[in-house]
Amino acid sequence: MTIQGLTVALSKGRIMDSTLKILRDAGIPVPEDIDSTRKLILSTPNGEIDFILAKPVDVPTYVEYGVADLGIVGKDVLVEADRDLYELLDLGIGTCKMSVAGLPNTAPHASMPRIASKYPRIATEYFRGRGQQVEVIFLNGSVELAPLIGLAERIVDVVETGRTLQENGLVVQEDIMEISTRLVANRSSFRLKSTVIDEFVSLVRGVVEQKE
Ligand code: PRP
Ligand code: MG
Repeated sequence: MTIQGLTVALSKGRIMDSTLKILRDAGIPVPEDIDSTRKLILSTPNGEIDFILAKPVDVPTYVEYGVADLGIVGKDVLVEADRDLYELLDLGIGTCKMSVAGLPNTAPHASMPRIASKYPRIATEYFRGRGQQVEVIFLNGSVELAPLIGLAERIVDVVETGRTLQENGLVVQEDIMEISTRLVANRSSFRLKSTVIDEFVSLVRGVVEQKE
């Protein structure tokens, strides 16, 4: 094991369990209590890696500023954050789609339809790319509420199983992009710590390719 001196930002929440499984299967040292602790910075017993447990939306920030050398985060968050990072690997977990959804059988009628989203940049770019003028309303979550309560005609959000849409009587209208979890690197770390980052990437790649 030649991994030493790396700081890795992990996304708390939904993708944490499958992320930790990949790291452990790859033989990367992971603190035993990482699944259960409330601590936000954890080091492996021999100090090989410091793990930062961050809100997914903040992972690109930690990595761009170089306080984390590597980060593991969803493509949805990466595209929305639009940070200056290297994307090294697709981990093939957390797969879902970014979609436009709304109530069924409702043709867009307003000249400036309102779109609610936790992803205002993605929503804005998507509709701009299609030459459609929309007003994007930012929400922090539970965006499926917006069409139900009359705040917006449609939403742009991630759809995994489709259950949230279904249980709220909404349907997918257009797919925007495929999403999965990515390994990203800080640009200077990638040069200055290339040996150890290469080692990390090849260990993880070994596990990811086995699963394909
Ligand atoms: C996410 C996403 C969708 C749902 C998709 O929400 O925003 O609402 O999961 O998953 P599904 O297709 O399997 O139902 P999340 O639960 O993370 O909460 P939030 O929207 O409040 O952030
Ligand atoms: Mg949601």
